[in-house]
Amino acid sequence: MKSRPVTLNNTSQKLTVGLGVRSYDIHIGSGLLKGLGALIKSFAPSKRVAVITDETVHNLHGQALATALSEYRTHLIVRPSGESQKSMANLEEILESLFRAGFDRSDLLIAFGGGVIGDLAGFAAAIYKRGMPFVQVPTTLLSQVDSSVGGKTAINNQFGKNLIGAFYQPRAVITDTELLSTLPMRELKAGYAEVLKYGLLGDAAFFEELDAGLGADILALKPDALSRGIYKSCEMKANIVAQDERESGVRALLNLGHTFGHALELQAGYDGDLLHGEAVSAGMEMAFRFAAAQGFCDDKCADRVAAHLAENNMPRLADMAHLLADPDALLRHMGQDKKNEGGQLTLILPRTIGDTYVEKRADRAAVLSFLTQMKDDAV
Ligand code: NAD
Ligand code: GLY
Repeated sequence: MKSRPVTLNNTSQKLTVGLGVRSYDIHIGSGLLKGLGALIKSFAPSKRVAVITDETVHNLHGQALATALSEYRTHLIVRPSGESQKSMANLEEILESLFRAGFDRSDLLIAFGGGVIGDLAGFAAAIYKRGMPFVQVPTTLLSQVDSSVGGKTAINNQFGKNLIGAFYQPRAVITDTELLSTLPMRELKAGYAEVLKYGLLGDAAFFEELDAGLGADILALKPDALSRGIYKSCEMKANIVAQDERESGVRALLNLGHTFGHALELQAGYDGDLLHGEAVSAGMEMAFRFAAAQGFCDDKCADRVAAHLAENNMPRLADMAHLLADPDALLRHMGQDKKNEGGQLTLILPRTIGDTYVEKRADRAAVLSFLTQMKDDAV
């Protein structure tokens, strides 16, 4: 089932993620948080909600959220910020807090934060009493265009990122673009990498629009540009998820740049030195460069991607020299990717800008030689 776009008014738009009985709406608009109470009404018949958020978001936007939820009995769970929250120990603390407060499946859980909170709270919702309803209220650009949509929820463990989780769809995604006004530029750019990803993976016209200035306007937080970029990204993601909810086919394309990116992230360690979106930004350039080196796409495509990143001061391969020093380690990290099957390396590769495919048997020797070349070029 395809997503259906509906315009609500000048400042707010709605898309439906078409998943049969698990279908839900994505609301996108400036100032939508104020209307949160009305938007979640049908999902919280008990008028009782648990909100999971992080300290940063709570300090900046907690009061606005409390006002928006004034007609609900609210149980607030505030966690420290950061990727390390996505752990089994923290998940247990959240579940215990819900049990102690006596939540049941007629109550609603709200994830109010970036992708970390969305993934953690979403997974808690998926397994609490075998599943309680939850709503995503994403507060970073990355979570507004990617992680809040599609139902992937997860925590990390010592073996890697997002290895324990569930596909569990929210009842709605409420995206208030105004929340981005407090987001640090570094986080905004990390989110923009995922916006760019949609153009590169499947819509050349969207890439052209981004390249012609929409991208720069998004990074300048221009309201119309934000709405356009977030809407278009969510529309593309919703259509892909509606075709392939559990990633057995086309959904894998959403991982463009992610296999190279995950290897960079693992090499950097998950302590904030390299953000997920920063790794994806450089990872997409690597995917295009690798494809060009193999003759799968034109050098000019790889050059255009690199030029777009450079013009917008986005993280690039050239910034990753310190992480490229050990090609064997990078290849090993790439070998741990969840998309791999039967020991083969899976890569999302471009034929050109806006046209990508899933390569399930990427040539390891070619990847290693490419990584070695990248290392040599970087010194
Ligand atoms: P994040 O949740 O860590 O947020 C980044 C930082 O911004 C945090 O310090 C947070 O406190 C702060 N922040 C959040 N909202 C803010 C606001 N409005 N103003 C100021 N500061 C704010 O990171 P993220 O980039 O949103 O998400 C990354 C996570 O998302 C990773 O764990 C990644 O694995 C996951 N992810 C999941 C999916 C999925 O499909 N489920 C997709 C992509 C990424
Ligand atoms: N971010 C990749 C996915 O949702 O499938």
